[in-house]
Amino acid sequence: MYSCTGGSLGLIFLAIVAWWLVQVIKKRKNKKRKEKFLKQNGGLVLEQQLSSGDQANVEKIKLFNSRELEKATDHFSIDRILGQGGQGNVYKGMLMDGQIVAVKKSKIVNGGEVRQFINEIVILSQINHRNVVKLLGCCLETEIPLLVYEFLPNGTLSQYIHDQDEEFPLTWGTRLRVSTEVAGALSYLHSTASIYHRDIKSTNILLDAKYRAKIADFGISRSISTDQTHLTTQVHGTFGYLDPEYFQSSQFTEKSDVYSFGVVLAELLTGQKPVISMMRSQESRSLATHFLLSMEQNRLFYILDAQVKKDGSKEEIIAVANLAQRCLNLSGRKRPTMKEVAAELEGVRLAVKDADHVQQNLVEEEDVETHEITIEAYCDVVSTSHGPFTDGGTASSSSDVQPLMFYNTQ
Ligand SMILES: *[C@@H]1O[C@H](CO)[C@@H](O)[C@H](O)[C@H]1NC(C)=O
Ligand SMILES: *[C@@H]1O[C@H](CO)[C@@H](O)[C@H](O)[C@H]1NC(C)=O
Repeated sequence: MYSCTGGSLGLIFLAIVAWWLVQVIKKRKNKKRKEKFLKQNGGLVLEQQLSSGDQANVEKIKLFNSRELEKATDHFSIDRILGQGGQGNVYKGMLMDGQIVAVKKSKIVNGGEVRQFINEIVILSQINHRNVVKLLGCCLETEIPLLVYEFLPNGTLSQYIHDQDEEFPLTWGTRLRVSTEVAGALSYLHSTASIYHRDIKSTNILLDAKYRAKIADFGISRSISTDQTHLTTQVHGTFGYLDPEYFQSSQFTEKSDVYSFGVVLAELLTGQKPVISMMRSQESRSLATHFLLSMEQNRLFYILDAQVKKDGSKEEIIAVANLAQRCLNLSGRKRPTMKEVAAELEGVRLAVKDADHVQQNLVEEEDVETHEITIEAYCDVVSTSHGPFTDGGTASSSSDVQPLMFYNTQ
């Protein structure tokens, strides 16, 4: 009797030990798995790269653990998807401290994409500019590496150009400000940080809560220093924005970003999508050629966006259109640098400001309409609200280069 109880106690004890052992092994395996992913995802490379550069960078980027981000995004729930595209999905998440973030998760992992992720982390960790989307951290211990960005609530520039929003119409003043901000950020990237963006387009320009522009998606950008000597074999970028010279030579230069920016200017001026359109005539199916042709034929005012025509001044519109034309010159060498572009746009904006100042005094007898518009242009905070982040519409259905909406996704 006594020994029997002892026996069953022993069995229970054994069972507990066995259960405990299984747990330990499971935990170990899990840890090994995470370590394997960390290694596979280039975590070590990243650590090296970050520490080989400026020491200060290492602290700026936070390494999140996978459980934290799963919790933040409700296990990557479909409801949390902000955008999706060729490269992966972006989820809206909330961290433990209540901070709203955007988490980018790649779809498929192969060597190339992992390199892009690491590349993006390293590049963004080097940048601190108010018109560039901020990378908060990353997680490398999952099979698919994750990037964590600041969350921008107000969508992409593309949305506002193409699905005009009654609550926040894209006035001429706003178009001018946004393009000046983007040009300034690109000029900074080129000259200070030695970085080309390589995929400038209106879906990669996000708007923050105050409708300030921020450039997103550095997935295919590469530091000039590492890229200077060798030609890229693959042409990256988005159809409609792609520098034709780069397309032919496979050699990306700073002027290729200038070309793409020129397409964005043309988009802002005309309100038309940059992709090939069957509506246009044979020789002008892309917005760039359509725009250049119209400029040559002195037909600029026939192709302007209605809002631009309504509230832009003729001189300013012409100044920006001429600038766009120069950015779109087929020969890269003839295009202005981003620095020159930024300075010129700044000049046009200052002229508007001066005009506004004069109008303050003349408002009684002067054209009231113009006055209202200039005020609006400098009013950064607009108290309208928009629906949740909606898909900005598919700009293109072409091949594998998809227009990417939010952090490289649509
Ligand atoms: C856009 O920004 C405005 C101003 O901050 C804000 O009130 C609005 O909620 C934002 N839109 C969205 C969709 O969050
Ligand atoms: C390119 O720039 C040069 C020099 O400014 C100009 O002569 C030429 O017409 C431009 N070409 C196009 C296609 O705009």
